[in-house]
Parts: sequence; structure tokens; C-alpha cells
Amino acid sequence: MEAGRFLVSVRGIEEIIERLERSGELDFDGFKMLMEADESGRERLRAAARACADGVYGRAVYIRGLIEFTNYCRNDCLYCGIRRSNQNADRYRLTQEQIMSCCEQGYGLGFRTFVLQGGEDAYFTDERVCDIVSKIKEAYPDCAVTLSIGEKSRESYQAFFDAGADRYLLRHETANEEHYGRLHPPELSCADRKRCLWDLKEIGYQVGCGFMVGSPFQTLENLYEDLLFIKELEPHMVGIGPFIPQKDTPFGNMAAGTLDMTLKLLSIIRLMNPKALLPATTALGTIAPDGRELGILSGANVVMPNLSPVNVRNKYALYDNKICTSDEAAECKGCLSRRMERIGYNVVTARGDYIDKQS
Ligand code: SAM
Ligand code: FES
Repeated sequence: MEAGRFLVSVRGIEEIIERLERSGELDFDGFKMLMEADESGRERLRAAARACADGVYGRAVYIRGLIEFTNYCRNDCLYCGIRRSNQNADRYRLTQEQIMSCCEQGYGLGFRTFVLQGGEDAYFTDERVCDIVSKIKEAYPDCAVTLSIGEKSRESYQAFFDAGADRYLLRHETANEEHYGRLHPPELSCADRKRCLWDLKEIGYQVGCGFMVGSPFQTLENLYEDLLFIKELEPHMVGIGPFIPQKDTPFGNMAAGTLDMTLKLLSIIRLMNPKALLPATTALGTIAPDGRELGILSGANVVMPNLSPVNVRNKYALYDNKICTSDEAAECKGCLSRRMERIGYNVVTARGDYIDKQS
């Protein structure tokens, strides 16, 4: 009886994965089954996702140099360690010279994408952001510049694009309005967040959306809505990582997202969106020592070593126990390259555009 039931469930999973591989389609019941799959189901899912990524990108892992240039933020997201109400956050912002020097160092190490990420900091007006973007593009015309600075007006996004920004990362956080409301203060809305993503796409950016796995109050239904939203938006990148509590936030005592769920979701997202750029995030490396390696082996194909100056690294404390806060950029890149080589993948220094745009 037990063995019979086991066989049925394995066959069920096999069929779901085959359908996913064939058509990229997954209904809610299939999704639930995959998320609840045991070791053998998980292994089958992982292998399918990795084969899919190998088919599109081969054994290449793209790197992006992350520059966390300000931790001032006007927003008050309940999960985030740099939220404006966090009186314990030690605030900093980098000068334009410091940002340029991060790029210089990164360029020397082989980085060809710079990701400028920060809180929503009023000091960085559109004019200042445009100035930074155009200076970087002028100095490094062969590099891509990615911005990740939150919600702005369409006019601002257009101005950054005109100044030379190529890509924009803005996680949608959750596609469900009610869930969104439980993670954010009332002045922020899921509809506005989605509007930003559609504007960015229309303007011509390569766009990244994404969400935290295991964020407070998240249900499987919410996650399924996230997958449907990703299918609809067709972003170039999908950034997911586990939610990790930060002690000075209202969610400081909540449980973190799990490795198992994050890896399964990475695999499912890969199979539903074969060409997507999928990072194995720092948060994933924080909840498990080999989290980023497992992320790549589950279908991810991007890593984002930190290029920020070491003296500000631990101040960009979105969550507790963040890794890589004391390593110089060169060490961080060397470490990640070796980690990838050990599992049979090569860090490549190309710009690593979305595959449609590669020559
Ligand atoms: N301000 C920009 C924005 O809103 O997109 C960029 C910075 S924001 C801190 C970058 C991402 O960090 C968020 O989209 C969120 O998903 C993630 N994040 C924030 N707090 C986190 C936490 N406690 N655990 C895991 N990820 C977190
Ligand atoms: Fe930063 Fe390993 S990736 S030290």
C-alpha cells in the first residue's frame, strides 16, 4: 500500500516536470506537489532545471559587481534592516568618487556589469543619479550599468535610461495585494510596484523582478501568483532569495525562508522561464554555507559579488548575519570563482546580457 502510494506520487512528479520542460506550464496542484516533493522529487526537479540552464547558457555563470552606495531610505518596509524607522542603522552614502573607484577596481577584476543598489535616498536626485550613470558609461563604455534604487516616476526612469542605464532591478516582493499590504506600510502598494516594472520594460530596460522566499504570511497561493506574474511580465532577470529576519525590524523574530523552498523555486522559475537570468543570491549563501553553489546547481546562472568598500559593507544590513561583509572585492570574486569551478562552472566576465540580445 505504502509502496504503491509512493509510486503514484513519483509518477505524478515525473509528469509535472515533463510538462514543465515541454511547455513551461504548471498548474497550482502541480506547483503544490513540487513544493512538497521529497528528496527524489527534488533531485529530479533540480536535474531538469540544470539541464535547461545548461541548454541555454552552457556552463557559464555571469558575475555582476554590486555597489551598495547608500543605506538611507525613505521607505519603511517591515522586513528591511535599512527601513527609515530603524534607529540602529548606521547610515552612510558613498561619494561619486568612491563609486567611481569601486568601478575602477571592479573593471580591473574583470567585471563588465555594475549594479548600483541603494535605499530610496532623496540626496540622490535624478540629476545626481544621471550624472553617476553617465560618468560610469563614459569611463567604461563596454560595461552595463544596472540600477536598483526603488520606485520612481516614469520620467525619472526615462532620464536614467537616457543617461545610459541599461538594466533595472526592482523586486515586486509579492504579486498579491493583500500580502503586499502585510509586508509594507499603507503608503506603498503592489499596484504601484507593478506599474514601475511595466514602465521600465516599456522604456527599454532589461528588467529584473523577484521576491523573498518565506516572507512572513506568505502562502503557496501567493507564491503561485508570483510565478504567474513573472510569466506575464517576462522579465530578463528574476531575483529570489530567502527572507532573513533583521533584529531591529518588526519581523525580527519571524522564521527565515528555507533552503529547500528557495532551491525548488529557483528550479521551477528556470523551467518556466528558460532564458531568464537567475542569481544565486547572497541571502541564499547566508542561510547555507554552500547555498550559492546549490543555487547554481538548481538552475541559477548569475552571482553578484560585492564591490562596495569594506568599511561600509556591514552597514548595508538588510538582514542579520549577511556574508561577505569583511572581504575585499578581489577576495570575494576569487572566492566565488573557485566555488563555481569546484562544481564545474566558469565565471565569465562578459556583460552577460539576456540571451536574446547576445550576438
Ligand atoms: N531600494 C531598492 C528597492 O526597493 O528595490 C533596492 C534595495 S532593497 C533593500 C533590495 C531587496 O532586498 C528588496 O527588494 C528585498 O527583496 C531584499 N530584502 C530586504 N530585506 C530583506 C530581508 N530581511 N531578507 C531578505 N531580503 C531582504
Ligand atoms: Fe564574498 Fe566568498 S563570495 S567572500
